[in-house]
Amino acid sequence: MKKLKVLFLCTGNSCRSQMAEGWARYLKGDSIDAYSAGIEKHGLNPYAVKVMAETGVDISKQYSKLLDEVRDIDFDYVVTVCGHAHENCPYFPGRAKVIHVGFDDPPKLAANVSDEEAKLDCYRHVRDKIAEFISGFPDGYLGEGNIKMSEIEKDKVRQEVRKRYAEIAESECCCRTASSSCCADTLGNAEASAEVGYSKEDMISVPEGSNMGLGCGNPQAIAALKEGEVMLDLGSGGGFDCFLAARQVGKNGRVIGVDMTPDMISKARANAQKGGYENVEFRLGEIEYLPVADSAVDVIISNCVINLSPDKKQVFSEAFRVLKPGGRITISDVAAVKPIPKEVRDDLSKYSGCVAGAIQVSEIRKTLEGEGFKNIKIAINEDSKRFIKDWFPGSGVEEYVRSSIIEAEKGE
Ligand SMILES: C[S@@+](CC[C@H](N)C(=O)[O-])C[C@H]1O[C@@H](n2cnc3c(N)ncnc32)[C@H](O)[C@@H]1O
Repeated sequence: MKKLKVLFLCTGNSCRSQMAEGWARYLKGDSIDAYSAGIEKHGLNPYAVKVMAETGVDISKQYSKLLDEVRDIDFDYVVTVCGHAHENCPYFPGRAKVIHVGFDDPPKLAANVSDEEAKLDCYRHVRDKIAEFISGFPDGYLGEGNIKMSEIEKDKVRQEVRKRYAEIAESECCCRTASSSCCADTLGNAEASAEVGYSKEDMISVPEGSNMGLGCGNPQAIAALKEGEVMLDLGSGGGFDCFLAARQVGKNGRVIGVDMTPDMISKARANAQKGGYENVEFRLGEIEYLPVADSAVDVIISNCVINLSPDKKQVFSEAFRVLKPGGRITISDVAAVKPIPKEVRDDLSKYSGCVAGAIQVSEIRKTLEGEGFKNIKIAINEDSKRFIKDWFPGSGVEEYVRSSIIEAEKGE
């Protein structure tokens, strides 16, 4: 097996990158070729050497390298382990994925501590955090929001997703699996929708063909929509949730569905015409670059879509931009509850099938907080395992992801 070449990078004192290199050699020596470097040259930190030795990892022979010494190596990953390295991340030739995982700076933690043992505890704390990260790296690393995918990689993912949903729109089918005999052995749309929380009345009240059985929850039911509100649906598909919401916001309200797949938009528009909806419109666009004005929307909903985005941070940033002050989001989406194995994450059909792109609840929360959202609530639906197992029957993906409801507010 080819080893992954990984560079751990920090600026200033190099103890975090040195500890990361030590852990990677010790814990993952058969799969990772580890390097560490700093922007400035420093000696090895004796406290770091000591606390690592306590666990049986000898880093005393490592030396503090300068970035220039490793610049020509074709790394698979560059992991910046301190904020400064992240902000000043230099250009890396080759196809290195640059990941930032900020760890506390042990010398800073220990700066105001006079007791020697307490000082060592500061280093031990960071040592253990780094070990935890290395143990799960790269398979257990779910910080998708932090992975700097190149624009070309993001586009490849979007194209795959678009292709998948164009096929579904054309075939009028319901299933999420990559199987060409779509629907042959999976639940029908109505059954699938009942599983995720829609009532029979919901299903019969919308134009035929708008419920495509593609959701993983029923977000408009919990969005507490009011008469006169403007609601935006991210990734509106055949328009199912938009049509249900249209009744609630009434003729003085407005519903906007955005989807990046032209066939889905055409289908949704045809459905709107069939049903005579005058307060619903569908716009072609990417949820990372919403075709919606600033501060124009009271409520955003989305159903099983954000996991499909290769840039979730950008989605939440756009959501924040278009919400009015005091606006809210109610999103049903798939979240990871365990590290998703590499073979699942690398499988594009499982990406477009709403599994491989899921990120952990902590990551969703961090991203929302980072964009300025308040009162964030994320509820995992443990029961969803029951229907997720049918998405890729026999593959076991239900062990890693669950449906969740994500609620947050923009604040006044
Ligand atoms: C799993 S389906 C869900 C459709 C709909 N929300 C429902 O519940 O029936 C995902 C939809 O999101 C759209 N989509 C995926 N990624 C998108 C993106 N980045 N921007 C806009 N639409 C996207 C797809 O075209 C597809 O229609």
